Amino acid sequence: MSEKRTVSIGVIGLGSRTETLLFSILQMKDVRIAAICDLKQERIDKISSILSRNNVPQPAVYRDCKELIKDPQVEAVFIPTSWNSHLKIACDTMKEGKYAAIEVGGASSIEELWQLIRASEESGAPCMMLENCCYGRNELLILNLVRKGLFGELIYCECGYEHYLGKELAEEYESGLERCRHNLHRNGDLYLTHGLGPIAKILRINRGNRFLSVSSHATKSRGFSQAVEKFAGASKVHFNEGDIVTTVIHCANGENITITHGVSLPRPYTRNGRVQGTRGIWLENANGIYIDGISPCLRKKDPSGSISETHEWEQVESYYEKYDHPLWKEYKDKVAEGRRGYDIITLEAFIDAVRNRTQPPIDVYDCAAWMSITCLSEQSVALGGMPVPCPDFTNGRWIESRPASPSKWSLDEVFD
Ligand SMILES: NC(=O)c1ccc[n+]([C@@H]2O[C@H](COP(=O)([O-])OP(=O)(O)OC[C@H]3O[C@@H](n4cnc5c(N)ncnc54)[C@H](O)[C@@H]3O)[C@@H](O)[C@H]2O)c1
Repeated sequence: MSEKRTVSIGVIGLGSRTETLLFSILQMKDVRIAAICDLKQERIDKISSILSRNNVPQPAVYRDCKELIKDPQVEAVFIPTSWNSHLKIACDTMKEGKYAAIEVGGASSIEELWQLIRASEESGAPCMMLENCCYGRNELLILNLVRKGLFGELIYCECGYEHYLGKELAEEYESGLERCRHNLHRNGDLYLTHGLGPIAKILRINRGNRFLSVSSHATKSRGFSQAVEKFAGASKVHFNEGDIVTTVIHCANGENITITHGVSLPRPYTRNGRVQGTRGIWLENANGIYIDGISPCLRKKDPSGSISETHEWEQVESYYEKYDHPLWKEYKDKVAEGRRGYDIITLEAFIDAVRNRTQPPIDVYDCAAWMSITCLSEQSVALGGMPVPCPDFTNGRWIESRPASPSKWSLDEVFD
């Protein structure tokens, strides 16, 4: 087998996410960390020491991200900074003709997304969001079932991010970290791509379908102030963010998507996945799949002679053997279940695109469409739930059936 060319990357933003990503990057033999950058010296020291412990040659070190972007050793740039900084850095990266990889998060304005689109279109350089949940085993299984036609025509989806972050937000409140400040000052679905990314791919958003309008409602806010009081001893802190934000997106092909955001009320984690078509349904919270004509349907005759039907869930795992996505067939014995496993698949998908100079499986139009829902939901909440229109970042090209690049990493089609 031929050796893969080594790809040299730079990493801007050396926070806790980079520590987690390093766990995967250090397993990738054909990736070299050529440069690192952070505004804070203590973060540079921390990441440098992890690299030394793992016998990785010390990369070039920068405090100014513009210098890292210009470093000729750097071919592609990872940007796990913060929601208010990563899009501008991604634009600068693409203008330098280099591949950009941003982390998850929503946009603050539609304008910054147009800037991202223009930077990519004018430079020809791609931008990928490292949305690791797109490579989750169940998300890919459902993509496979949908593309094989087992769910029939798609009608309705749900997704979300319901993850109790009371302790983390209280710590961030004390240290002034940006995520907490977003929740203090904004009110909308601030963190939605873990759920929305896989659903948007399944619904072929930007490839024959698009988001048309967004309507969003937020509840009152109690959980955030309760959490900072409990974990940080700060009383009477007012957060603008509602405890539960519910958003409905209407799509051009007639499907609706309901998204739920909730990070401030105690509860177990869920991404609330649901994909429903004319023949079948996946419901994450039931860990169930039901497919008409395949799943059990018990028929009972009551004493009057009429027949009633009970449709029964099948466990999601019972579909793995026959319908696991080819990527998970390849990776399931190599990576851990859970987000670290998804991370390595996502990173390899990006590196493969850089190495072969192809479009990444999550492109700049996906990034813009998914991230736009955050600021559109804010606008809708502020207008009492009024629907607001979604921009078409493809400028009409969504109606063209752009063929998916025939790559095993594709999230548009399933290539064996
Ligand atoms: N995909 C996932 O599962 C997942 C998990 C956690 C976090 N994230 C995302 O990763 C991103 C980073 O999260 P985090 O928890 O590491 O944040 P963090 O605040 O801990 O780290 C961000 C780092 O970026 C640095 N930084 C900010 N602006 C900079 C600039 N202009 N130049 C250089 N350095 C700069 C900061 O100094 C900080 O060290 C966020 O977008 C977050 O949503 C994703």
